[in-house]
Amino acid sequence: MTDSTTIPPVRPFEGGRRRLQDPDPERAALRAAGPLVRAELPGGATAWVVTEEAAARRVLTDPRFSKDTAHAPHGIPGLEPPAAERPSLTTAEGAAHTRLRRAHAPLLSQRALAGREERTAATARTLLTALGPGEVDLMADFTTRYPLTVVLDLVGAPPELLDRTAEACRAMWSPDPAEHGRAFAELLRTSRAAVGRPGLASELRDRLGDLDDDEIGYLVFGLVFAGQLTTDAALGSLLATALERGLTGTSDADLDTLVHDVLRRHPPAPFTLWRFATEPVDLGGVRLPAGAPVLIDIRGTGTGEGGPGLSFGYGSHFCAGAHLARLELHAVLTVLRTSFPQARLAVRPGDLVEAYPPGPVGGRLTALPVVLR
Ligand code: HEM
Repeated sequence: MTDSTTIPPVRPFEGGRRRLQDPDPERAALRAAGPLVRAELPGGATAWVVTEEAAARRVLTDPRFSKDTAHAPHGIPGLEPPAAERPSLTTAEGAAHTRLRRAHAPLLSQRALAGREERTAATARTLLTALGPGEVDLMADFTTRYPLTVVLDLVGAPPELLDRTAEACRAMWSPDPAEHGRAFAELLRTSRAAVGRPGLASELRDRLGDLDDDEIGYLVFGLVFAGQLTTDAALGSLLATALERGLTGTSDADLDTLVHDVLRRHPPAPFTLWRFATEPVDLGGVRLPAGAPVLIDIRGTGTGEGGPGLSFGYGSHFCAGAHLARLELHAVLTVLRTSFPQARLAVRPGDLVEAYPPGPVGGRLTALPVVLR
């Protein structure tokens, strides 16, 4: 058993820019470093990254790795409050988590969302139709607004808050952390405003009668926030790939395959959120101390062919919005195929660049110049 302090760290979280088509050199270094890699965070804190899929699935189903930030060491930036302070799907564990999941599940299931396919496609069509003529940048004018419109409509947020909330979502990609604080506050405000209006927020309130409106608002914020950056970035790589290949003659099943493959090759969440060892745990030949912060390298584990991959996670914290995300991604492809058959990239695919903020977060295309008609 290796002592966890003797392994030199790698630094996969520095951020930067990279062509969409280029492989990530840091990720290759992570994989080469073994199934469990000691990594250094931008502030200097040590973290552990699981790079091998079978080990990842074990960690994601092992209750000794908890998402409750009550177990977190000092020095990990951007954590939510502990579950006891603020009920949240992403930090609750055990029975409290199961209860929250049961309250959310029927509202976000495939069956619950089936009736929203047409409405979602109509949102994509309306937003795309309003763009152009001539060259447009879908990252500036579509990929943020489209998923935000869909999710705010679903939860029941007042439509007049859409513009300022979209602005806040763009600010979340800013390199200035002060901007992030303001953006979170704006998103939280919009999410709270949904409680009491017709929609998912109020249904959640009915299902979780012991939580107050503030707490329900925070759960809604959890959905809006978790879904926004991921789906925004996913739309960039998906639309770039779809426009490069062309959609003429594709079936709906082909579109589902395309969504799956792109999410696997360019996972918008390249790492899971943090888990913390609740006690010393032996993993990959290393003894991790209690409190050790652990991430799964989703992108690195998703390089093999076939299988479901880990793009939406695994185990009890599997993405609560996976059906909604797939529905949104599928819908925009059907709209491109039927309403914008002439759509094409306005630059060479090799010129598309992703910017990665520092930290264990995903990248996003800096621009997606397209001619739609
Ligand atoms: C392509 C888009 C998306 C991707 C790739 C994605 C990915 C993920 C991943 C990997 C996790 C697990 C994190 C972990 O285990 O630490 C997760 C959890 C979660 N996602 Fe998503 N997500 C997407 C869209 C959405 C949407 C649209 C929503 C909401 C409507 C959403 C809501 C959530 C929530 C609430 C969780 C936490 C679930 C829990 O901890 O029980 N996600 N997502």
